[in-house]
Parts: sequence; C-alpha cells; structure tokens
Amino acid sequence: NKIREKRKDEHVRLALIEGPNLHSHFDDLTFVHQSLPNIGWKDVNLQVIMPNLVLKSPLYINAMTGGSERTGKINGNLAKIAKATGMAMAVGSQHSGLRNQSLADTYRIVRRNNPDGIIFANVGADIPLDLALRAIDMLEANALQIHLNAPQELIMPEGERDFTDWLPQLEKIIKKVNIPVIVKEVGFGMSRTTLRMLKEIGVQYVDVSGRGGTNFIGIENRRREKQEYDYLSGWGQTTPISLLEAQTYINNMEIFASGGIRNPLDAVKCLSLGAKAIGLASPILRVLEREGLEEAIEELNHWHDQLKTIFTMLGARNIEDLCTCPLIITGEVREWCEVRGIDVAAIGRRGEW
Ligand code: FNR
Repeated sequence: NKIREKRKDEHVRLALIEGPNLHSHFDDLTFVHQSLPNIGWKDVNLQVIMPNLVLKSPLYINAMTGGSERTGKINGNLAKIAKATGMAMAVGSQHSGLRNQSLADTYRIVRRNNPDGIIFANVGADIPLDLALRAIDMLEANALQIHLNAPQELIMPEGERDFTDWLPQLEKIIKKVNIPVIVKEVGFGMSRTTLRMLKEIGVQYVDVSGRGGTNFIGIENRRREKQEYDYLSGWGQTTPISLLEAQTYINNMEIFASGGIRNPLDAVKCLSLGAKAIGLASPILRVLEREGLEEAIEELNHWHDQLKTIFTMLGARNIEDLCTCPLIITGEVREWCEVRGIDVAAIGRRGEW
C-alpha cells in the first residue's frame, strides 16, 4: 500500500513538471472569422444535454488523484473548484480506495465538498463488476469512467502485461451499470478501430483523451531507474486527430475530448469537431498547486467567460451551432487525415454552401 501511495504522489509531482513544448496539433486547426455574428454574448448557452447526463458547463475536471494523504487534500480542493464553477469532476483511479478502507476517504471527500455536483467515479478496465459498483457507491457517482492505459502499464515495472480481459470485462460492466459509463484513454488518444470495438460492445460515452498534454510514458519513464523509453514520448494520437478519427461515430456516441487543452480556444475547437465535453487535468492541477484555490476558481471562471466570447465571435449560440462553423485543417493533422481518408475539405466548407 505504501508503494501505491508513493506512486500517486509521484504522478502528481511528475505531472507538474512541464513536458517538452512540442507543436500542438490544435494549431493546425483554424476557425474562419465572420464579421457579422448576429448574436450577443448573453445569447450563448454552454449547457450540455445528453441522454442520461446534463452538464452545466462543457468543461470538466478530469481524473487525477486520491489514494494518498496528499492527493486526498488535492481531491478536496478540486471538489471545491467543481462546486464553485459548476464543472463536473472525476476522481483518480479508485483501486486503492477499494482495497484499503482507510484510503476511501481520500475520494469520498469529493462528494462531501460538493454534495449536489456531477461526480465521475474512476476504475481500470481490469476491475471486477462488484468492485466497479462499489466505486460508484463510494461517491454516489453520476457516471463511471473506465480508463484504458495499456502503454502506461507496460512502461511501469509493476504494471499489467496482459490485456486480453479488457474488452470482455468492459462489456460485462456496460451491461450491468445503470449510470453512464465513460470509457477513457489517459493521454494516448483513440483510433476509429478502437471506437468501433467500443461501440460494438454497447459503449455510449467515450473520452478520447489524446496526446499533447500529460504524457504517462514520460511520467513512468522518469520513475524507472534507467530512463530508457524517452524515444516513445511521441506515442499515440493527439486530441484533434482522435476527434477526427471519431467522426464516423460523432453523431451516434457521446464523445468527450481531453489531453493537452491549453486554453478556451482549444476547447472550442474540440466542441466544433463534435465533442460534447472537454476534460482538463494537468492545467487545473498546475494552477491549484502553484497559485492556490481562489486563483484556480478565478481562472476557470475566466475560461467560461472566454468560451462565451469565442462562441459569440463565431455566431454560435450553443454547442450544436459550433458544429456548423467551418474549421480549416492544415499541416500534420491534414496529412494524417488524407492518409486515413478523413474528409477535411467537408469540415472546411461546412455551413457555407
Ligand atoms: C491522470 N490521469 C488519470 N486518468 C484516469 O483515468 N485515472 C487516473 O487515475 C489518472 N491519474 C492521473 C494523475 C495525474 C497526476 C494526471 C495529470 C493525470 C489522466 C487524465 O485524466 C487525462 O486523461 C490526461 O492527463 C490528459 O489530460 P491533460 O492532463 O493533458 O489535461
């Protein structure tokens, strides 16, 4: 248990160190400015309505912490941020809280600090059904996230090596859990094939969590004695590419985006590619740990104001309107799409002819 608690603290410490400042694929996406928005700032509505889940804000705090004393305190503060800003919030993987009662409080604090909030439980795909149900109960959760993190497990010396169970296990959980189950990556993105496999077993909610922000190959590599995996740090699909891969399913699954969201404009780009909600993990951890709770709340309130500003510039009253705004796709992202047969021209011309 001590080893597990130490790992949780190390993840937080290493996630706070900035990664290399690579070219962001969000910079390959550009909106077309319109001089006549025809709406006002007050007309913008950020609410997201989905089959079994209604969000006041399209932004949510993504899964990070719990499982040690320090990360329990962080969870308490993240819950206060969620309450003050109306954002949904996920806790980090609850496996340690399920195995060890004394650590369950480092997750439960989230419900205590935000009794009426939207809270996502979080477990791995190898979890037995009864434990998944207990993870939901622990938080009176509104949805359950199940994370897929194969690269991280493989780079961790103590990690999983066999992933043959994941898909059948997921299917069992999907069939039995009666709140939304969100299958998420942890920063390596998803492909069209992954989405097809998830759709086929009945998954309705997905967070593609792409490359571009927190990098778990990088983090686990730094925890190793010899850091021999540096060369794998570019592994995975970025968030814009993951959303483009997801276009086949964008109208018949609820697709969330996260991973490397730097500012409100990145979030609006995801929404215009059909994402229903946008997860932020390390950006919130950073402002909380470096500047404190009040500053973090203020910054996220600014994000919400700025989302409305960008929506207004685009003449979009709501998230559906954004999906008709032309978005120009260039550079590496365009090259990827051309090779994969994803129609970038249609996205660049939509709404205009
Ligand atoms: C994470 N993430 C994560 N995801 C998950 O499903 N279960 C978990 O326990 C954790 N733990 C965790 C710890 C820390 C410190 C960080 C920063 C992240 C992954 C997270 O939810 C998200 O998918 C990625 O971090 C990508 O988003 P950002 O950080 O680029 O905004």
